[in-house]
Amino acid sequence: MASPQPKIKSKVRCVDGEVGEVVHVIADPLSLDVSHIVVRANGTERQVPVSAIGAVRGESVELTCNAAQFSGFPELKRQDYVSSKEVEIPHLENRIHVEPGELLVPFPELEKNCARRSFFAGFINVIGALIALPLVWPVLRYIMKPMYVPYDNHWIKIGNISKIKTEDIGVQYIFKKSFKDSVLQREEEKNHWVVKASPETLKKIYTHGDIPFYDEKGAVIWINNQTVPYVAFSGKCPHLGCGYKWRSHKTRGQVFLCPCHLSIYDASGAVLDGPAPRPLDVLPIQISPSGDIEVIDVEYKAGKKEQVRIA
Ligand code: FES
Repeated sequence: MASPQPKIKSKVRCVDGEVGEVVHVIADPLSLDVSHIVVRANGTERQVPVSAIGAVRGESVELTCNAAQFSGFPELKRQDYVSSKEVEIPHLENRIHVEPGELLVPFPELEKNCARRSFFAGFINVIGALIALPLVWPVLRYIMKPMYVPYDNHWIKIGNISKIKTEDIGVQYIFKKSFKDSVLQREEEKNHWVVKASPETLKKIYTHGDIPFYDEKGAVIWINNQTVPYVAFSGKCPHLGCGYKWRSHKTRGQVFLCPCHLSIYDASGAVLDGPAPRPLDVLPIQISPSGDIEVIDVEYKAGKKEQVRIA
């Protein structure tokens, strides 16, 4: 091609007006000449052969075609080219100066499916993943913990039955539970409700017999039965997990009332009203000879008709 060479950012004009500017230059790796200029026009980059260049004047490139013919030039497929900095072509940079722009050369045919290139790309990805793993591991463990950590089946003392004076009345017990959150030992405040059940309420609670509890493998870890007249309910509403209260209701008397969506439960945990899909969740309970109440803090998925244990 005749000098001078087109410069990056030069304005490109067709015979009927300006169409864009030069953004790259493509070289022929054999002749070491410019074979195409890449012109960006309206956001599209087109390859224009040097044979379509009429003149190069300073910061301006004049094409011999009109704008309609220009729009027929092919769009640049960037993946078909490499930067001249990525391949070693002797003397190329001495012949063509495009700084600070990018000089492109066609992607060598032999390299297009080069196993070595893929191997190094894969290798770099693997090394990157190995370096990143120690950084993301605590986050992954936090996310996956519910899936892989065994359920906590320890008994927790939440208070003493001396606090309960009357049958069929909900009494709240607030306690602290410590747990390991990723690598940190943390403590959280929780609450459950305990009812000293009258014979009628006990009968309702145990309508279907004793109440078994299971670990993550499906093995029974405990069975509640009606020889213990106390029943503990999880402090989370089975609808969507809000905390509920023991309240006086104008038509239903004393009930458990969830303020979030107004589910109402009686002293046996049965749903009286509202969107709750199941009764309050009963917890494993045992009472020590001195009256201490111990529970296993099982948790079930909210919003389900059936109980699905999650912790
Ligand atoms: S969370 Fe309790 S009624 Fe919705």
